[in-house]
Amino acid sequence: MRIDIITCLPQLLESPFSHSIVKRAVDRAKIAIHIHNLREYAVNKYGQVDDCLYGGGAGMLLMIEPIVRCINALKAKVDYQEFIYMAPDGEPLTQKVANELSLQENLVILCGHYKGVDERVREHFITREISIGDYVLSGGELAAAVLVDTIVRLLPGVLSDATSALTDSFQENLLAPPAYTRPANFQDMSVPDVLRSGNASAIQQWRYEKALERTKKRRPTLYHDQHGTESG
Ligand code: ADE
Repeated sequence: MRIDIITCLPQLLESPFSHSIVKRAVDRAKIAIHIHNLREYAVNKYGQVDDCLYGGGAGMLLMIEPIVRCINALKAKVDYQEFIYMAPDGEPLTQKVANELSLQENLVILCGHYKGVDERVREHFITREISIGDYVLSGGELAAAVLVDTIVRLLPGVLSDATSALTDSFQENLLAPPAYTRPANFQDMSVPDVLRSGNASAIQQWRYEKALERTKKRRPTLYHDQHGTESG
C-alpha cells in the first residue's frame, strides 16, 4: 500500500512514522508513506500557500492552487482510490473506516491548517472527509498520523499473530478485555485465577464475558449495535 500526505508542516509528521509498528511496516515495505510539502507548490517565491478569507473573518485558509498543483503531480504518476481530507466535520474515524481503507492500494491524505482549505478543494477534489473526534486540532497532521496508524496495523504481515489486530478493541464491535502480566501478585492485587489456569476454553470464555461487560458499561451504543437493545 502507498499513502501520500500533503501538508504545509511536514515536520509534524516526522516522528509518528519513525517508530514502533509503523516504522517496522515501512522498513518491511508493507507500506510506503510519502510526505509532500505544500510549500513546494506555492503560488510565489515567498512560499505562500494560504490567504485570508473572502468576506472577512479571522484566520487564514490554504489556497486551492498549490493543493491542486500537488494533487495533479501525484495523479500523473499513481492511480489513487481516495483523496481524503482530515477535517473536524468529516465522517467519524471508526474501526470500520480503518478496515475499509486498509483494503485500498493508494491513498492521498490532505491536511488542512489554520482555518482549513478553500471549499472548492473539498467540493471538487476530495472523495472522503474524516474526523478523529469532536474537537478542533490546529491542523490535520496529527489526525492524519492517527488515521495512518489505524490503517497500517491492519495490513497483512505488519502485526505478528501474538499482537494480531483481530484482538484489538472495536474489531468485533467489542472493547478488548482486561489484560495482565507478571507478577501474579503485587501488593495484594492479584491476577484472576482463570488466566493462570492453563484452561484455554475457560480463558477464552472469561475474556469474551469481560469484553461484553466492559463494552456494555463503557460503550453502551456499541454493545447495542452488536447485541440489540434487549435488557440484561
Ligand atoms: N483537523 C482539525 N481538527 C480535526 C479533527 N478533529 N479531525 C480531523 N482533522 C482535524
